[in-house]
Amino acid sequence: MASLVLALFASVYVTSSSFSSGAPFRPLAAAVDKRFAPIHSSGTGRTTSPGRAQLTVGRWTGRQFPAVNNKDRDNLEFTTSAVNAIKKAPNDGESNVTLVESALSVGGSRDRGRSLATTKHPPSSPTPVRPPPPPRRPQSPPPRRPQSPPRRPPSPLRSPPPPLVPSRPSRKPPSPRPPSKPSPPPPKPSPPPRMPPPSPPSPQPPSQPPQPPGPPASPPYNASADYEGPGPADGNPRSPGDDKAYLPTVPDNQPDVYGQWVLKALGNIVAIHMALIPGTDKFFFMERPSGRHPDRSNNIVGYYDYITNRFTNVKYTDSVFCAGHTVTQDGHVLVVGGHIAKTGYGDGLKGVRIFSRKTLTLHRIANMTFPRWYPTATLLPSGMVTIMGGTVLPGSGTGKNSIYEIWDPANPTSLIQRSQSAGLVAKTNDIYYPNTYVLPTGDLFVFCNDYGEILDPMTGTVRTTLPSWSNIAKGVFTEYPFTGTSVMLPLTPQNSYTPEVVYFGGQFSYGWINTTASRLALRIKVTYDPVANNYTFGGGWSAEKMPLPRVMGDAVLLPNGKVVVLNGAVKGLAGDGAAGGLAKANEPNLWPVLYDPYTPYGGRMRLMSRSRIPRLYHSTAALTTDGSVLVAGCDRCDKYWWTTPGGISKSPTSFAEYRIEVFRPPCWFNVTAKAQIESLDPETWDPEDKVNVMQYGQPFALKYSMFFATDSVTAAVLVSPGSATHSTNMNQRVVGLELLSQDIESRRLVVKGPPTINIAPPGWYMLFLLNGDVYGQSAWIRLPGNAPRVDSLLTPATSTTGEMQVKSR
Ligand SMILES: *[C@@H]1O[C@H](CO)[C@@H](O)[C@H](O)[C@H]1NC(C)=O
Ligand SMILES: *[C@@H]1O[C@H](CO)[C@@H](O)[C@H](O)[C@H]1NC(C)=O
Ligand SMILES: *[C@@H]1O[C@H](CO)[C@@H](O)[C@H](O)[C@H]1NC(C)=O
Ligand SMILES: *[C@@H]1O[C@H](CO)[C@@H](O)[C@H](O)[C@H]1NC(C)=O
Ligand SMILES: *[C@@H]1O[C@H](CO)[C@@H](O)[C@H](O)[C@H]1NC(C)=O
Ligand SMILES: *[C@@H]1O[C@H](CO)[C@@H](O)[C@H](O)[C@H]1NC(C)=O
Repeated sequence: MASLVLALFASVYVTSSSFSSGAPFRPLAAAVDKRFAPIHSSGTGRTTSPGRAQLTVGRWTGRQFPAVNNKDRDNLEFTTSAVNAIKKAPNDGESNVTLVESALSVGGSRDRGRSLATTKHPPSSPTPVRPPPPPRRPQSPPPRRPQSPPRRPPSPLRSPPPPLVPSRPSRKPPSPRPPSKPSPPPPKPSPPPRMPPPSPPSPQPPSQPPQPPGPPASPPYNASADYEGPGPADGNPRSPGDDKAYLPTVPDNQPDVYGQWVLKALGNIVAIHMALIPGTDKFFFMERPSGRHPDRSNNIVGYYDYITNRFTNVKYTDSVFCAGHTVTQDGHVLVVGGHIAKTGYGDGLKGVRIFSRKTLTLHRIANMTFPRWYPTATLLPSGMVTIMGGTVLPGSGTGKNSIYEIWDPANPTSLIQRSQSAGLVAKTNDIYYPNTYVLPTGDLFVFCNDYGEILDPMTGTVRTTLPSWSNIAKGVFTEYPFTGTSVMLPLTPQNSYTPEVVYFGGQFSYGWINTTASRLALRIKVTYDPVANNYTFGGGWSAEKMPLPRVMGDAVLLPNGKVVVLNGAVKGLAGDGAAGGLAKANEPNLWPVLYDPYTPYGGRMRLMSRSRIPRLYHSTAALTTDGSVLVAGCDRCDKYWWTTPGGISKSPTSFAEYRIEVFRPPCWFNVTAKAQIESLDPETWDPEDKVNVMQYGQPFALKYSMFFATDSVTAAVLVSPGSATHSTNMNQRVVGLELLSQDIESRRLVVKGPPTINIAPPGWYMLFLLNGDVYGQSAWIRLPGNAPRVDSLLTPATSTTGEMQVKSR
């Protein structure tokens, strides 16, 4: 039955089996068979014109499995039985995935979510023709974009965020469904532009004529003017007196409006560190040896497979907890710094290690000169990696590192040293997990606490300092333990690859365990003038209020440029209480906020439905290959207070939280709009890495499928694999690609590789196709770089121990 339905759907998808350019493309079987097809699970339809199908819908629910509803909250309880089952099971001291898997099935929870398409009633018109989506940035017309579609009325989905209601009053009924869209006149698909001759990659970013900012909808928020000063409002004399953090009630049965949470699995270790392993659907986790793991191992490294829902332990021998990590140019995960020798694990403070994406093993390859606890690792366009910050021992005040180091894959065992600027050293507490972004000039945006600068990473020269935000956000800090989180917004042809950075939340400089966190989103645009060779920042920082305050949040950039801000707390600080006994953060912030940077000021935030699992200190989030947000971690999840309406689900294992969830944003459920990559040009196939290689500035062809014959791809983006810990994602980047040509009939699309290595540093990326806001399953691609491969350092491939000999090269 299911296969019949799938076959039916396959037939109404617009695909073509004949390829205009001779050789057949390599089909992305996994994308079709394993992930895509199950989403479309029910309905009827018929093809009205062969080769250019138009769906005539008799019935469409798009739903095969029951959506998670209130009843499924009981699923959360399964983890208690899972943990009990685990406790009863023999402890074989080994990585035991089966055990966790079978324990999970005790409660019957599987990811029903991967197939949780929401109800979408068929469009009333027999030929569902929809207008093209609006330009991504309506207020500033995109330059050089002839196929720019016309504006259309705002989507009914963009309803204002649900009103905040105080936590005590009785439950608010779910807000009504948005009205159905009026059917607009059918658009004429604009002819694809002629493919321009490929241009060589230019070493300089394109010149950026200053774009006058559109008039804001309302005057930017000035938190400093609202500043109330420390007050006794919640009993703490050091609190700013803001007790106005009313907790909202958001419907949890409308995934296409408010997103959806799905409980996925019980991991073996806590995801204090989380990195998507390039080329895979696996997430690399690291933590401290807690001795409380569900399999009762004392392991600190492992990986979770998003597709099979399995967790595998990885043997390793030194303390990686509190390390920094990013990917290498050849797609492995580099892990630097960590913790002192503890509980049988060696001193990891100077460790330089690589987790091989091929062998799934972790190897210590070198030592840094300086020990580092809480450093940031940043992949540069050259393939080198800067390692900045961290203290020489665990804990504030144990010694700031005023030197940063640079790891060079060409000389991987001997690191380069450079001095950090006097400004950064003076204006930070400890240089903990500085937020760094490679700018389209190749310079680094570096921000820590409330101080920022633009740095030439190879020389250590400060090109300029950032404007201060103290005039609009007095006393807001973002450095641990006042932890805020940030993203660099997408660099796209439409915005001339102009970077903008947004900080979400943080805490006040006097913050304490009951102090309400910052509710500000602080945003700045960085404009480089190639003629004057200097940077300007427009009007400096602008501030916008989030619906809820947040400390220790995580910000995940979606392929469509929106940002999911989630995790963390409404009150308090990051950090351990004494031996984990005392709370430092309170009132878990369980509601993601969807931030739309392309909406005019004042309307960018929408509250999403909430999880029931608090994610406080040591929790993480990162994007999956299907554009969902994997959420895990929290290892001080025992003592805290909450007033959450409807309650929470405390960790069944007290301190540490092993449950892994996924949050899917509303657009994920718009299944009939997804453009799915079916195959990539075989000429670009790299048999050694088993990935297609996209050349800079060159055409890159692919085939895709689409539900509605009249829909088309409106944008294509590259998304880097995330590498997150402590609210800092060290490898998060979305780069828009130019569309060179698109044939709607054959579903052949040609995009252009990114213009420069500074805009998209060489390495591994997920390629997503967008239809307006909506994206389908991604495909991995690689952007070529010149850095030597580090594979030879990662032998023997079968090694399961951490220490290894470094081979001479
Ligand atoms: C895991 O545990 C189960 C039950 O104790 C056992 O049958 C199985 O062999 C173990 N698997 C591994 C990989 O250790
Ligand atoms: C915000 O308010 C503070 C305090 O009133 C004031 O000093 C500051 O100049 C204001 N900032 C802006 C940008 O208006
Ligand atoms: C923090 O707030 C909680 C809940 O209101 C209260 O019980 C506790 O005493 C407060 N702690 C401090 C140090 O103010
Ligand atoms: C790193 O330093 C540790 C401790 O001094 C030492 O045992 C180890 O051999 C070093 N590793 C490498 C790869 O240099
Ligand atoms: C950048 O250069 C331009 C042109 O020389 C000059 O007008 C401007 O003041 C400079 N801005 C900064 C921040 O140095
Ligand atoms: C689904 O996505 C399409 C294409 O972006 C958009 O036009 C449509 O409004 C979306 N539908 C809903 C219900 O959001």
